[in-house]
Amino acid sequence: MKKMLDLVVTENNQLNQNYCLIKLTTSDNTQLPDMQPGQFVEVRVDGSPSTYLRRPISVNYIDKEKNELWLLVQAIGDGTRKMCEYKKGDIINLLLPLGNTFSIPQDLSTDREFLLVGGGVGTAPMLFLGSCLKEKGFSPKFLLGARSKNDLLQLDDFAKYGEVFCTTEDGSFGEKGYVTNHSVLTKSKFSTIYTCGPKPMMMAVAKYATENKISCEVSLENMMACGFGVCLCCVEKTREGNICVCTEGPVFNIEKLTWTN
Ligand SMILES: Cc1cc2nc3c(=O)[nH]c(=O)nc-3n(C[C@H](O)[C@H](O)[C@H](O)COP(=O)(O)OP(=O)(O)OC[C@H]3O[C@@H](n4cnc5c(N)ncnc54)[C@H](O)[C@@H]3O)c2cc1C
Ligand code: FES
Repeated sequence: MKKMLDLVVTENNQLNQNYCLIKLTTSDNTQLPDMQPGQFVEVRVDGSPSTYLRRPISVNYIDKEKNELWLLVQAIGDGTRKMCEYKKGDIINLLLPLGNTFSIPQDLSTDREFLLVGGGVGTAPMLFLGSCLKEKGFSPKFLLGARSKNDLLQLDDFAKYGEVFCTTEDGSFGEKGYVTNHSVLTKSKFSTIYTCGPKPMMMAVAKYATENKISCEVSLENMMACGFGVCLCCVEKTREGNICVCTEGPVFNIEKLTWTN
């Protein structure tokens, strides 16, 4: 059930010029609400007079030992820039957890080869998803894409949960090109691909998955305002009609979308 909570900033680290990693915990030592990979929070951005509406941010990771929620934020406008200025001890109001989740098999009885593909800030939900798959006994692989080496973030964290492959558009780290060009796709067989990132990247991944008969789930980052199904600004056309990404998503099996034949 979603809750409105005031959480306290324990750390806010600037990871590069555009990204920060905010760590939050409860102010009264109570347990954080249960959150699952794929879900997101809506942040009320206090201190930014031009940011009237809450901003949706994915659950990047849950540190159970420290009772911390991590948010990876790319500063692209007033709201996200303000979030990157938050300091240790600041209180942030969040609505959480929102949305559905990636589907994780409950048993290890069948062979499962998972590839988690993230591009840009779309790598954010993949860390939590990877950690949960690892916890269940699976060995996920990560394929992370960025413009340049400096934009590839949290690589040491990803490496705790599986093998990490990277592409950069300028060739400064990993293989040069887009994620769909990476050699891991030809060298390994995957049963499931999960992806989040820019829409053209997700569509290319969905096309690859369809052509190779691989199950594929995508996490959409449509523009959102209310976050709970009222304003209709997050609508996506699907095979079942137009639906709100904030309440029925953000995670969809590509079979439900109209991206592929
Ligand atoms: C389910 C979901 C999960 C998300 N997870 C993350 C996350 O983990 N980390 C993160 O940094 N961002 C995430 N985003 C995107 C984030 O919500 C937007 O970047 C943010 O709302 C922009 O707010 P702003 O006030 O900084 O910028 P604004 O001033 O509102 O907008 C600045 C620019 O960003 C564009 N923009 C706004 N929202 C989006 C969007 N959803 N997608 C693409 N462009 C947008 C606007 O068109 C404008 O050009 C997520 C979005 C969704 C829907
Ligand atoms: S964001 Fe308002 S309906 Fe989805």
